[in-house]
Amino acid sequence: MFAITAPDTRGRILDCGAGPASFNAEATAEGHRVVSCDPLYRFSADQIRTSVEEASVTLLANVEENTNRFVWDRMGSLDRLREIRLGAMDRFLEDLPTGLEQGRYREDALPHLDFADGEFDLALCSHLLFLYSDTFSTGFHLAAIREMCRVSGETRVFPLLGAYGEPSPHLDPVIRHLRKLGYRVERRKVPYEFLRGANEMLAVTRL
Ligand SMILES: C[S@@+](CC[C@H](N)C(=O)[O-])C[C@H]1O[C@@H](n2cnc3c(N)ncnc32)[C@H](O)[C@@H]1O
Repeated sequence: MFAITAPDTRGRILDCGAGPASFNAEATAEGHRVVSCDPLYRFSADQIRTSVEEASVTLLANVEENTNRFVWDRMGSLDRLREIRLGAMDRFLEDLPTGLEQGRYREDALPHLDFADGEFDLALCSHLLFLYSDTFSTGFHLAAIREMCRVSGETRVFPLLGAYGEPSPHLDPVIRHLRKLGYRVERRKVPYEFLRGANEMLAVTRL
C-alpha cells in the first residue's frame, strides 16, 4: 500500500488510524520502530474482537455483493480475505498488551497527535482518509495530513479513492491547498490494489 522500502524501515514509523491490523506486531518482531495510534485502543481486547468480528460480517457481505469492484489475483477468494483479516486481528490482539505497555499503541485521534515535531521519519495512514470521504470534510483531511507532517519527515496516505471506488471530492482541494502552503505533494502508484483502481498513495513532505 505504501511501497515501503528497506531505507523507509530504518527510521521511526507512525501508523495513524492503524486499527486492528498486524503491521506494528510484525514490524516490531523484525526489529523496526513503529508506533500505532487509533481511538480504538481505548477499548479492551474483548471489546475490539467483538466489534471487529461484527463489522467483518457486514464488510464481507458488502464485498460479496460487489465482487467485480475488487481485484482478486492476490487475495484469491472471500474465504481467504476473511482469514487474512481475522488473522491480522489475532496477531494484533496478541501484541496489544505488550504494545500498550511499551507505548507502541496510543489512543491519539487525528487531527491531533500528542507527539513532538519531527518525532517520526514516516507517518502512514491507510483506509481512513479519502476512503471515508462522506464522513470527513476537506478541512479535516487537510488538518490531519498537516498534523502527520508536523510529527514526521514524510507522510503517506492510501488509498485516494472513496469507499465505492469513486474519486474523492477532497483529493484535489487538499493537494492544491498543501502545495500553496509549501508542502511537496506527489501521487505515486503502488503495487497493491484490492479495491479496483485504488493503486495510488499520496506522499507529502514539508519543504
Ligand atoms: C478501516 S480502519 C483501517 C485500519 C488500518 N489502517 C487498515 O488499513 O487496515 C479505519 C480506522 O480508523 C480509525 N479512526 C477513526 N477515526 C479516526 C481518527 N480521527 N484518527 C485516527 N484514527 C481514526 C478507526 O478506529 C479504524 O480503526
